[in-house]
Order: sequence, then structure tokens, then C-alpha cells
Amino acid sequence: MKNNWNNILPYLRQSPITVESFQTQIRDFNEPEYDITGIIIDHGSDTFKIGFDNQDTPKSLIKPVIGRNKKLEQDMRSNFMYLEPYIGKEAFNFQKEKNLELCFPFEKGEVQDFDNLEKIYHSIFYKELKIVPEEHPVLLSLPIQIPATHREKICQIMFETFNVPAIYFACQQLLSLISSGKTSGLVVDLGNDLISVVPIHNFSIDFNNSFSQNDFSGSHLTDYLFKMIVDSHHLDSFSKKDAQNIKENFAYVAFDFEEETQLPQDFIQKEIELTDKSKIKIGKERFLCSEPLFDPKMVDKNQIGIHKKIWEMIQKFDIDQQDFYLQNIILTGGSSLFPRIEDRLWKELAKLSLKTNISLTKSKNPIIDSWIGGSLISSREGFQNFWISKEEYDESGPSIHIRKVF
Ligand SMILES: Nc1ncnc2c1ncn2[C@@H]1O[C@H](COP(=O)(O)OP(=O)(O)OP(=O)(O)O)[C@@H](O)[C@H]1O
Ligand SMILES: [Mg+2]
Repeated sequence: MKNNWNNILPYLRQSPITVESFQTQIRDFNEPEYDITGIIIDHGSDTFKIGFDNQDTPKSLIKPVIGRNKKLEQDMRSNFMYLEPYIGKEAFNFQKEKNLELCFPFEKGEVQDFDNLEKIYHSIFYKELKIVPEEHPVLLSLPIQIPATHREKICQIMFETFNVPAIYFACQQLLSLISSGKTSGLVVDLGNDLISVVPIHNFSIDFNNSFSQNDFSGSHLTDYLFKMIVDSHHLDSFSKKDAQNIKENFAYVAFDFEEETQLPQDFIQKEIELTDKSKIKIGKERFLCSEPLFDPKMVDKNQIGIHKKIWEMIQKFDIDQQDFYLQNIILTGGSSLFPRIEDRLWKELAKLSLKTNISLTKSKNPIIDSWIGGSLISSREGFQNFWISKEEYDESGPSIHIRKVF
């Protein structure tokens, strides 16, 4: 089933959007029998970004993970008792102590486990946001490639389990574009599990030409760094969390990989304190860990680098559009935070395209910009007409989501 995210476009085009115009407008529901503050849930494999649409930023970033001690749960069940699973950070924190099995219900741009996803939504509404879902419309920001059947099931969960008054599905890369203040551009989303390259013209996503891959992104760079450090330092207590911290705080992209490898070790070496307070020195790993973005073969992935993917995408368009997209590349997603990634990409794209009129904009808030885009449209006057209401759902059933998405 083809995703149809574009049916709101005439509305967006008739009243031009700027970030300012969103911020000055307020929602005007005709029948505000429920609290009209919308909830925005932006789904990611690393974190769900959640909060209220009358705020500038998400209230929380929560890890979509559930931890269970299955044996203890079974014992309790035979005594007619129920053991609550550990959700989010707690699942990681108590994993060893409580012998928890971890489940990641949202990975690779898809729902892996609907029952556990429902548990996460429950925790979002009641524990994190402390609201009654019956009283708030919910905008669900989802990756471009999520199967329509998964959206349909989420629609069902929202209306039948949580009884929300209205929902809206929005595409993350379009929301990132909106929060950048642009109406068109090539959105390159470098996330945790996913890399997506999405051409958008006048708010319209070109689905035939969009691209995303789900088997290689930030989490694989963390794994690669973890392996390099474990192999070279022979540490017992070094954890993936340590590797992720090092990646996020000390890694960077080499402008010229060959030149960087020739630099003296002292020049790039850093001493780093780990979570157990021990110290290690790392050098070349700092740029080696991001290099697979440009050369996936380094991590045994039979794929081309992001610069080639971007150029391959741009070449699908006619010459004028090619120039436009080269000049309007928006980098978003947490993995776009590597220092110098935009300089390296600029250099590689100039080499491939033989052009120098190339412009890459790094999102100011790459981890939360699709959440911000969601809050901008959700709180916009007139937007309430596009929500799927509970009444419509009751009349038409879960397939209503095909008609009303953005
Ligand atoms: N400063 C940084 N430098 C490099 N990578 C970073 C930095 N900060 C965060 N990241 C990485 O960004 C990723 C999280 O980004 P993001 O929140 O966009 O992913 P997500 O939306 O949860 O996942 P996905 O879109 O792939 O489902 C993680 O892999 C994280 O390690
Ligand atoms: Mg994402």
C-alpha cells in the first residue's frame, strides 16, 4: 500500500508558511470540548521526542525500550499478580540487576512489536506527560518509509486503547523542512537506524524518488567505535553507552581522510573518562568511527557513501532542479552533529557534480527539529480540519488514515 502523506498540501500552499507565521497563530477548534493542547510524539529508534504543541521544545526524550524479567513475570502471574515492565532509561539502568530482557518495539523505521509500543505510549501519556489521553489530540511524527499497515495499527491503538479525540500522521522529513523555514529542499536525515534522502518541492514529497535505508546509520557507527576501542584497549567494563558518549562528544568527520590518517597521534589524541571513572586515550578512532558514512565497506556494508547517495538522488532531476537541490540541502538527524560533516560533504559533492554552487544547511536542532515542525503545524490556525477525529474513525475504521495524512 502506497503511503499518501501529501493531502494537506493545498492548505499549506494557499497560506504561505514561515516559522514566524506558525508561532503567531493559535489553534481555534470550533468545538473545544477537550483540552486543545496537542501532544506531539516524534518516533525514533534512539529516542521518542514527546511534548505539548504550545511549547517550543519537547518535554522529554525517551528511549523506546522495554525491560522484562520474564521468569519473575511468569511466577507472579501464577499467583495472579502483575509485574510492571521497566520502560525507557530504567530498563537499561536495571538490566543487569533485575536480569531484564530488553525489547525495542520501534526500530529500522518500523514497529517491531505493537504490544510493547502500546506500553511506551501508555508511559508517555500517564507517566511522562501526566495527561489523560482522552483530552488531547495527538500528532504522530513518523519516518517516511513506515508501512501503511503500521500506521493503520497505530491509528487503531490511539483511538481504541487510548480514546484520543483526534490524531494526525506527519512525515518526519517534511516536518524537519518546515522547522528549517524552507518550503523546498533535499532533506538528508542521518538518524540512529536510518539514513533518508528526501526531495521536497513546495511541501510536496517526491515519493518516487525518495530514498531511505535502514540497516546502517548512527547506531552502527557506535558499534564500530565500540569494537575498535575494545580491540585496541582490551577493556572489560567498556560499554556501548561509553562508546556512544565518546562518539557524541569527541568524534568528528575528517575533511580529507588520507591526510587525517597521516597526522601525528599526539595531535588528535584525547584522554577520556569512562562511566566507571577509568581513563583511556583515543586518537584515530575519533574520525575513523564516522568514516563509514562515506565508505560503508569499512563496516562490511555493501553500499555507497552518503555523498554518492545524495548525488545519485539529485541526478534523477532535470538540470534546473539539480542546481536547486544542490543549493538547498538540509542536514538533519542526530548523526549530522559530527563536526565538519558539512565541509566534507560539500567537498565530495563538488567533486562528483563538478560544481561549486552547493549549499548545505545543518539543522540547528537536528535531533528535535521534526518535533518542532510538528508543533508548528499542530498549533496552526485552521489545521484542526486535517486531524482525524474519533467520530470519523468510528464511521470509517482504521483505513481513515490513508485519506488524512501529511
Ligand atoms: N554530537 C553527536 N555526534 C554524532 N552523533 C550524534 C551526536 N549526538 C547524537 N548523535 C547520534 O544521533 C543518533 C540519534 O539521532 P536521532 O534522534 O535523529 O535518531 P532517531 O530519530 O531516534 O533514530 P531513527 O531516525 O534512525 O529511527 C544516535 O545514533 C546518536 O548517537
Ligand atoms: Mg529519526
